[in-house]
Amino acid sequence: MGVEPSIILLPKDHDNPNSWEKLMLRYKDFRLHALDTSPEAYSPSSSRENAFTQSDWDTRLRNPQSFTFVALKDKGSKSPLTTEAESVGEELWIGMIVLVILTDTENGGSNEFSSKPRSLDCELAGLFVEPSARRLGIAKALIEAAILYGRRVAYEKGIPSLFKLTTRTSNVAALNLYTDMGFVAEASDYDHVKGIAKFILRT
Ligand SMILES: CC(C)(COP(=O)(O)OP(=O)(O)OC[C@H]1O[C@@H](n2cnc3c(N)ncnc32)[C@H](O)[C@@H]1OP(=O)(O)O)[C@@H](O)C(=O)NCCC(=O)NCCS
Repeated sequence: MGVEPSIILLPKDHDNPNSWEKLMLRYKDFRLHALDTSPEAYSPSSSRENAFTQSDWDTRLRNPQSFTFVALKDKGSKSPLTTEAESVGEELWIGMIVLVILTDTENGGSNEFSSKPRSLDCELAGLFVEPSARRLGIAKALIEAAILYGRRVAYEKGIPSLFKLTTRTSNVAALNLYTDMGFVAEASDYDHVKGIAKFILRT
């Protein structure tokens, strides 16, 4: 691994509206850059994001169920998982991933007989690393940060966690990455007609 990136968890709000707007625009630009750079990696429906309004981006970044992690170019003095908007506004973004918590932990989750969900089901989505920064371990660091966060939420609730990922069967880099990191896809998880594969990691 050639660089050690800082992995930052983006905040969901900021006292200063200017700082918030700056962060949101940065997030929007980087996401659209990812879709533009690697369109083949994402679902065709992602192209609708080009027409998102500022309010759509605002809503997305504030979504209480989703957590956006960004890799910054240089490892600085910032502690990991900081939520300071200013600390991410000026730095060079080189990667991103979103952790979506699917389990409704407030209302008992998927188990109708219990007030407590059996597991914290999470999805990892929107993974992207800047082409000039690939093969340096950044995707791995982003996934590890997102999993650590999800595991911590699950631990606090006293339940195990489960992470899901979907990728195109033609995406060799992603297939190798997820397999390397212990994600599992059974033969039945490969949909060769749609060209997608579903991976799971249980912790
Ligand atoms: C897939 C992607 C996120 C990988 O990012 P990355 O930072 O280069 O990945 P890492 O450096 O952490 O790679 C970790 C491991 O994944 C595998 N891997 C990554 N890129 C690979 C490639 N191009 N070919 C084969 N294996 C690859 C390797 O096993 C690698 O370990 P190694 O370098 O020790 O051999 C990046 O190529 C990317 O952004 N692609 C476009 C968007 C995309 O495909 N997103 C995933 C959508 S499901």
